Amino acid sequence: MLTGPGSSLELAQLIADCGARSVLVVTDRVLVELEVVAPLVTALKEAGLAVSVFSQVEPDPTISIILAGIEQLRASGATAVLAIGGGSPIDAAKAMIACCASGRRPEKLDGYFKVGAPVMPFFAVPTTAGSGSEVTVAAVVSDPGTGRKFAIVDNQLVPAAVALDPNLMVGLPAGVTAATGMDALTHAIESYLSTLATPASRALSVAAARAIFRDLQQAWQNGRDIHARQSLAKASCLAGLAFTRASVGYVHAIAHQLGPLYHLPHGYLNAILLPYVLDFYLDGAASRMAELARACGLGRDGDDPRSLAASLIVAIRQLNADLGLPPTIEQIAEADIAEIVKRALAEAHGTYPVPTYMSAHDCAAVVRRAAGRAMAAKGGD
Ligand SMILES: NC(=O)c1ccc[n+]([C@@H]2O[C@H](COP(=O)([O-])OP(=O)(O)OC[C@H]3O[C@@H](n4cnc5c(N)ncnc54)[C@H](O)[C@@H]3O)[C@@H](O)[C@H]2O)c1
Ligand SMILES: [Fe+2]
Repeated sequence: MLTGPGSSLELAQLIADCGARSVLVVTDRVLVELEVVAPLVTALKEAGLAVSVFSQVEPDPTISIILAGIEQLRASGATAVLAIGGGSPIDAAKAMIACCASGRRPEKLDGYFKVGAPVMPFFAVPTTAGSGSEVTVAAVVSDPGTGRKFAIVDNQLVPAAVALDPNLMVGLPAGVTAATGMDALTHAIESYLSTLATPASRALSVAAARAIFRDLQQAWQNGRDIHARQSLAKASCLAGLAFTRASVGYVHAIAHQLGPLYHLPHGYLNAILLPYVLDFYLDGAASRMAELARACGLGRDGDDPRSLAASLIVAIRQLNADLGLPPTIEQIAEADIAEIVKRALAEAHGTYPVPTYMSAHDCAAVVRRAAGRAMAAKGGD
């Protein structure tokens, strides 16, 4: 892992040193237009590599975008892939190399360890501080046919080398900075509360959460603050390392249903859902939440565990407000809630090591509150 301003340019030489001769850059149109990609392409060429660019990735990449990328990957003859972008280009690139190795379509790789054959050398330069995808085993793909997001999970999908270069993040709009930073905080908190967490993964979660509480608002306010950008890039990466070990929980399970349905960004949904899911955990996981609150410097000595746990939720609601994020997701339609709950629980109860379980009834109440309809939950709540 290379870090620091300008480190992405050093990665170009490292890719050449790994023996690749021809590389496909996977990115999106916005990053090409903002000229985030051009200096890296130049550096790759100067390192002696042939370069082609696939820039059709869109937020929450779909199966058809991945198939188009695979076509270009094959036509280009590239022997290595470099993803430059947020979670969307990094995940699209992961799905592309997984499909190329296995000879199967993305939806056939839904689940764990189905790739089966070695993937080509893969590198990443994150341009958001959020998904942590640069260090995780997962690629999240959207299927507009079913309205679902699914994950291709394989150890080989962790990039061989990564550059965390804050220079590339200075143009990230404030709204995206807020949403992606809160995605990283959600990774840190859900992985901390996971029953699969270890002392080592909890240390990573805590380091990430502390840095996000400390620096996210500054990066949101002043996007050109390189120190805050570097801190968040590192925090997002640490949270990625924590959750690729200990997984996520109900916040992600619910957000994954709402994203495709209402076309809202992943981090934005996580940010708003997080305090409502933690409200639910107060009864079953207060001591872990209290521990995390103390580690983040929240609450006061002598507070009982439930008050400390509540102080974590208060701090998240305050941070959301400070970042201009709304307290509720008004787009959630009452008529959709039963299906959202069914799908979220199917996702969570498949593999997520949540600290305490929700019934369908509990989950519907959480979604209703997050929709700003606490009153409507009466009777059914
Ligand atoms: N694989 C994983 O482990 C994992 C974890 C969490 C989320 N995800 C997935 O990642 C995706 C979301 O990724 P994301 O939140 O990083 O956002 P993104 O990649 O979708 O990017 C969001 C927007 O920000 C723009 N952008 C990105 N970097 C920029 C920069 N430096 N300057 C200006 N604009 C920039 C993009 O062009 C895009 O319009 C979702 O599909 C989500 O499901 C994956
Ligand atoms: Fe996430």
